[in-house]
Amino acid sequence: MRKNIVAGNWKMNKALEEGNSLASEIVNIVANEVKDDTIVVLNPPYIHLSSVQHLLKDAKQVFLGAQNCNENTSGAYTGEISVDMLKSVGVEYVILGHSERREYYKESNELLAKKVNTVLDNGLIPIFCCGESLKIREAGTHVDFVCNQLTDSLFHLSPEKFEKVVIAYEPIWAIGTGVTASTDQAQEMHAELRKHLASKYGDTIADETTILYGGSCKPDNAKELFANPDVDGGLIGGASLKSRDFVEIVKSF
Ligand code: PGA
Repeated sequence: MRKNIVAGNWKMNKALEEGNSLASEIVNIVANEVKDDTIVVLNPPYIHLSSVQHLLKDAKQVFLGAQNCNENTSGAYTGEISVDMLKSVGVEYVILGHSERREYYKESNELLAKKVNTVLDNGLIPIFCCGESLKIREAGTHVDFVCNQLTDSLFHLSPEKFEKVVIAYEPIWAIGTGVTASTDQAQEMHAELRKHLASKYGDTIADETTILYGGSCKPDNAKELFANPDVDGGLIGGASLKSRDFVEIVKSF
């Protein structure tokens, strides 16, 4: 079912105590100020998952997410984290294919297809990121490029599996740059993605898919972005590191 979701991607920020304070502040403000039907996902670094999970225990609408996972379920993969480990500390969502992972760690569409399978097969929800670089947008091939990312990493899924996936469209030129996609640019791309999903899975499933926008989403532009018919929430980087900013975004539906 299509949901309103705001996910905070903390990336490689916050030491343990800072992370705990941020999480508890968010939990408290959300409980007092946020509509019940909005879902909030906190994605701290792996090392804080367990302690943040304890802080989310009584929070009805705040869930725990990871920023990545390994495509294998166990074994000799030094430094990696499996889905079982994530589940054992209460993780329910996993961000996959963030542009930073694609760029710095060379994660390909093929590898991401494997990660998507591992996450879904183990009952977790992937937040699958896609998005184009400035060069691709300037060349005018952004729609095809992003649709291909979905085709290559998701279209092998059965409709039953696909229905569980959350998509995050994040133009790379907007991530951490302070340049946000205009509402028209976001709506145009989200509508194109939904059309592409419909070509594979039909109108009903496409219409039910949650598609988030990410890239310099802030308290002062979230309302306008979320008001678009095809934008169902956001994946928030920088602004998720301050509780008040983050919750103001969560309240922007
Ligand atoms: P930003 O990051 O909000 O800091 O632009 C978004 C993201 O990378 O998910």
